Amino acid sequence: MRIDLHTHILPRAWPDWTAKSGYAGWVSLAHDDPGCPVGCARMVQSLPGGGTKFFRDVQPNLWDPGVRLEQMDATGVHAQVLSTVPVMFSTWARAQDAHDLHRLLNDHIAEVCRAEPDRFFGLACIPLQDPELACRELSRAVSELGLRGVQIGTHVNGLNLDHPTLRPVLAHAARLDACVFVHPWDMLGGDRLTNYWMPWLVGMPTETTIAIMSVLFAGILDELPDLRLCFAHAGGSFPGTLGRIRHGYQCRRDLFPPAARDPVAYLRDAASGVPARFWVDSLTHDAAALSHIIELFGTSRVALGSDYPFPLGEDRPGELISTLAALTESQREDLTSRAALAFLARG
Ligand code: CO
Repeated sequence: MRIDLHTHILPRAWPDWTAKSGYAGWVSLAHDDPGCPVGCARMVQSLPGGGTKFFRDVQPNLWDPGVRLEQMDATGVHAQVLSTVPVMFSTWARAQDAHDLHRLLNDHIAEVCRAEPDRFFGLACIPLQDPELACRELSRAVSELGLRGVQIGTHVNGLNLDHPTLRPVLAHAARLDACVFVHPWDMLGGDRLTNYWMPWLVGMPTETTIAIMSVLFAGILDELPDLRLCFAHAGGSFPGTLGRIRHGYQCRRDLFPPAARDPVAYLRDAASGVPARFWVDSLTHDAAALSHIIELFGTSRVALGSDYPFPLGEDRPGELISTLAALTESQREDLTSRAALAFLARG
C-alpha cells in the first residue's frame, strides 16, 4: 500500500477574492486563458490597478478528484494526503480575508475526503498572520471537518517558526493531536534567486533548513513533546548540512540558547533504533540522498511524498524507494505507508 503524504489540491474555481476584499494579490484559476492548452488552466495573481500576473499552468489533476483517482490507480498510490498549494497561504493579506479563503479551501478538502474516505486524507490551511484566528480555524478543520492536521509555511511574514507569537499555534496543534506539515514558501533571496528556477531549487531547501534549525535549537520539540512535525522535500538542505551545523553548534555554543541540544539528539539513534523526533518526506530525486535521510531519521520517520501534481515531484510516487535494494519488506512498508499513517494518526 502506498500513501502519498505530499500532494496539493485546489477547487476548480472560487469567488473573486480581489473583488471581495477590495485589494489585489489573490490567486485565481483562469480556465479560459487563450495562452493555455485546452483543458488546462492558468493560475494567476491579481495586480494592483487591474490585470494579472502569471503564476503557473496547471492540469485537471490539480482540481478534479476523478482524474486524481485514475492517476493514483495507474501509479499504485492507494491514498493521497491533500494540502493546498502554498501560494494560497496568503499571509501577506488581511487576516480576516485569508481566514475566509482558508475556510473555503478547508471545506473543499474535507468534501473531497468525505467522498472517498479510503483514498484521501486532508490537511488544513490557517491564517498564521493572526495566531488566534489560525487556532480557531485549526480547531474547526480538525474537530468539525475531520482533517488530520495542517500545512504551514517555513516562516510567517519573515518570522521564523521559533518566534514566540507562533508558539501558541504549535501548542494548539499538539493539544488537538493535529499533525503539522511544514512546506517552504515565500522563499528568501529576492532578486538574487531570479534565474535558473532558483527560488524552487535553492530557496525552498534553504527555507526548510531555516525552519528545522529554528524548531530544533529553540527546543520546541522538548517544550511540546506531543507535537508531530514533518518537513517537505526530505528536510531540504538540512540533511546535507548537518555536519556543518553540528560543528558550528559545538564550536560556538555562545551563539545558541543554553538549553539547546546537538541536533542529532532529535534524529535516529542508531544504537537503540529509536527513530527521529520528527518526520520528513522522501522527495530527494536521488537514491544516495534518500539512503542518507533514511539513515538519519529511520524508516518510520521518512514518508513517501511526491509533490503531486507538480513538475518538481516524483512522477511515479515511491519509485525511488523501490530502487533501494538494502531494505527489508517491513522497512519498505514504513516508507510507503506506515510512516505517513503514524504522522496522520489522531488519538
Ligand atoms: Co509541495
